[in-house]
Parts: sequence; structure tokens; C-alpha cells
Amino acid sequence: MERSLIKDVLAEQRFGEPSRVCGWVRTKRESKGFVFLALSDGSSQDTLQIIVFPEAPAFRELHRCNTGAAICAKGILRESPAKGQSIELEATDIVVVGEVDQATYPLQKKGHSLEFLREIGHLRPRTNTFGAVFRLRNILAAGVHDFFQARGFLWVHTPIITSSDCEGAGDLFTVTTLDLRNVPKKDSGEVDFSGDFFGTRAYLTVSGQLEAEFLALSLGRVYTFGPTFRAENSNTTRHLSEFWMIEPEMAFADLDDDITLAEEFFRFLCREVLEKGHRELSFLESHYKKISCDELRKLAETPFVRMTYTDAVRELRAANERFEFPVSWGSDLQSEHERYLTDKVVNGPLVITDYPKEIKAFYMKQNPDGKTVAAMDVLVPKVGEIIGGSQREDRLDVLAQRMSEVGISIENLRWYLDLRRFGTVPHAGFGLGFERLVQFVTGMANIRDVIPCPRAPRAIRL
Ligand code: 4AD
Ligand code: MG
Repeated sequence: MERSLIKDVLAEQRFGEPSRVCGWVRTKRESKGFVFLALSDGSSQDTLQIIVFPEAPAFRELHRCNTGAAICAKGILRESPAKGQSIELEATDIVVVGEVDQATYPLQKKGHSLEFLREIGHLRPRTNTFGAVFRLRNILAAGVHDFFQARGFLWVHTPIITSSDCEGAGDLFTVTTLDLRNVPKKDSGEVDFSGDFFGTRAYLTVSGQLEAEFLALSLGRVYTFGPTFRAENSNTTRHLSEFWMIEPEMAFADLDDDITLAEEFFRFLCREVLEKGHRELSFLESHYKKISCDELRKLAETPFVRMTYTDAVRELRAANERFEFPVSWGSDLQSEHERYLTDKVVNGPLVITDYPKEIKAFYMKQNPDGKTVAAMDVLVPKVGEIIGGSQREDRLDVLAQRMSEVGISIENLRWYLDLRRFGTVPHAGFGLGFERLVQFVTGMANIRDVIPCPRAPRAIRL
């Protein structure tokens, strides 16, 4: 008999029909001579209750159906008299597919701390919490494609190995096949990469933006959705060394269009999870009290507040607040400042625009004031910066001038400058940090708890 998914069994309510389900036992308990198993197959937040009567052949297998065991159960679906569920499987047969050693299985019925679960990353998706997080992550990922596909954006695949440092921040991982025991050096003492695999120094990408730009300047509207890598030594609850980014890029668009797209995108994704991940959100809401579906619903309807960097600085300087880092025009905003603005000033999502050019990347379009660029950051309560984007500098001379000012090789990025030579157009885009979004939606305090295998400084075991 074909295997059914528990989510379908629960949704379809086919009382009286035969069914076969497979999954892992969450709990086993006995009552009045019969035995109940709670079975999870990962397809749903809810477990399916399996009831076994003493006369069923399945009964003989129950001694091997301990917490964590993999089993397949066959039987008839019945209306359940128990509270909190409407359907259960009355099992006739059970096949124990994979037994579990009770003495050493780390997951017990009692709850475990998130810290403890981080130590057993390969088993944590079997818990209610991580099942919820990873199902919500999937809903959001599918939502990303739905959103852009419906608006005529092409999903493009930009490289993971690159020779350029897009953000100019210098936090790159080098990719090399050089013999580390005998690294070739130039006379100057620098490593000589000319004999390396690519004949030049190569890195893991920090962003697919530069490549997305040439694709947008031929295909019109594109987006990337892939892994990006940053070697910053930040041990925070919001930084990963490997994270997923979504980067839309639009030709014939300015900063205003960019902000509008970001806003529609963010609100669409909030609505998606509310609609498709309701069970998961409710579980996280009741269990951790860090998110609320009502708040999320409100956010999905709240327009972003827009504020220039200059106004944000004015607001922060006027604040009656003791910041660890003092604020002055020209300095980058720290998370304490961002949090003050989102949580205390606007109490919702906030877009800050027109940052000083010195604290932003070389490719951003310079404003007529000569001091600021057409940049935007979207900040949300609790998480802080979730999106960073800009209109791009589309004037060849201004871009080349800026590149030489900040010491970016014009030779390496000749193709990037070509885009400003051959049919240049105003264009804009942004990057959404996918894990920060999942963090925001799930309310998980630590970004390491929203990705299956978190990569962070000194953390790569699983
Ligand atoms: O602001 P960032 O650095 O912007 C870019 O990379 C641009 N090239 C995007 C573009 O315009 N196409 O990064 C974008 C977002 C941030 O707002 C943040 O959400 C996320 O990526 N991010 C990180 N997420 C987790 N860990 C890190 N170390 C992150 N660094 C950035
Ligand atoms: Mg940024």
C-alpha cells in the first residue's frame, strides 16, 4: 500500500479508509490495555496518533517502538475521541524499520534547551521547534520564487567562486588549491596566485549583485537566491559565515522603485507564512512567546516608514538615551541605534535612505549633494537590518572615479564598467538576508537556529 503523508491524513479526514504512514515515534503510552503512539513524519507540525489494540498483530512489535524508532504503520483511519485531534490510525500492522537505542538516544520527551540541541544538529530537526522552523523556512523560500515569478523576474544563477570583492568590505574566504605547505611568494612577500587553480586569487562570493547587474541589463528583471559567504569575525546572534541571500535587480528603476519592491516583497512573505505556516507559527508563538501572529499580521499591512540617514542621525542625537557608541553624521549606525529607531521611534519596519558615501559600497549612485548615495537599508524590530540595497551608479565617469578613489581595480571589473558604456540605464536592487528573515518570522533569537548547518567562526562541525 502506498505511503500517505501525515499532513494529508490530517487534512483529508478519510474516516473508515485504510492508510499506511511512516515516520519516527515521538511518544508511546499505554492506557486501559491499549497503546498509543504519536508519530511524526516531518510533513506537519502535528503528530498522528496511532492506536494499537492487544489483538492486533501490530501489538507484538510495540516493545521495539520506542521514542525515535522509525516505523511504518498500516490500519484504518478512525474518528478520534481524544481532545486536540480529530483523526487517528487504528493500526493492524507495524513494521519497525529502524530501532533506536533508548539508552543513548539524546532526544527525550522533556524539552531540551536550544543550546543543547545545537550540539546535536543532526537530530534537532526531529523536534517540534526545528520542524516548525524548517517548514517555515521552506514556505518562505517557495514564497520568494512565487513573488518574483509572478512579477516577471527571472531567477538567475550567479557564481559562487569569483575573483571580485563585490562589497569591498574585504571579508572574503579565499578558494585555492595551492600547496599550503609550500605557498609560492612574490619578491614582495605576497602570495603569488598566478600558479593557482584559476591563475589569479579566487574567493567565495559575498554577493551575486555584480553579475545580477549584467543579467538585469539584458533580461530586464532578475533575482538571485543562493548562498553567500563572509569571513567577518562576528560572533553575534545575527551573523553567519555562510548565509543565503535573495538579490533582485531591475533595469529602468530608481531608489524609489527599489524601496517599493522591498516593501511589497517583505509584506508578501509575511502574508505567505501566516497563510501557509499557521500551525508552525502558533506553535512557536505559544512555546517561546517571541513572535505573535497578530503582530505579524499587522506588520504585513504596515507601510514602511521612510527616513533619510541625516534625519535618523538627528533623531538619535536628540534621543534621551545613553548609547554605547556615540552618533555623529558620517558614522555607521550600530545595532543599538537601529533597534532604538525601529522599536522606540517608529515601532515597525523602517527604511533609512541616502547614507554617506564613505560608509557604503562603491557601486551606489551618488546623489547631487556629493556627500550621500542612493542607498537604502530596511530595518525591522528585534532583528535590525534585514535588507540592504541601492540604486546603482550608471554614469561611467562617476563610477570609474569612485572606484579609483576607494582602490578597486578597474582592470578586474572592466566588464562591470562596460555596462555603463554600452546602453547604460538607471537600475537598482537589493539583498535580503534569508536567515534574518526566517529569524524575524520565527522569533528565533539566534540565527544559528534557523539554518540546518550553521557556519560561524570556529563552528563547522556538522
Ligand atoms: O547589506 P549587504 O552587505 O548588501 C549586499 O550584499 C548587496 N550586494 C545587496 C544588493 O544590493 N544586491 O547584505 C544584504 C543583506 C543584509 O541586509 C543582511 O540581511 C544580510 O544580507 N547579511 C547577513 N546575514 C547573515 N549573516 C551575515 N554575516 C550577513 N551579512 C549580511
Ligand atoms: Mg548592509
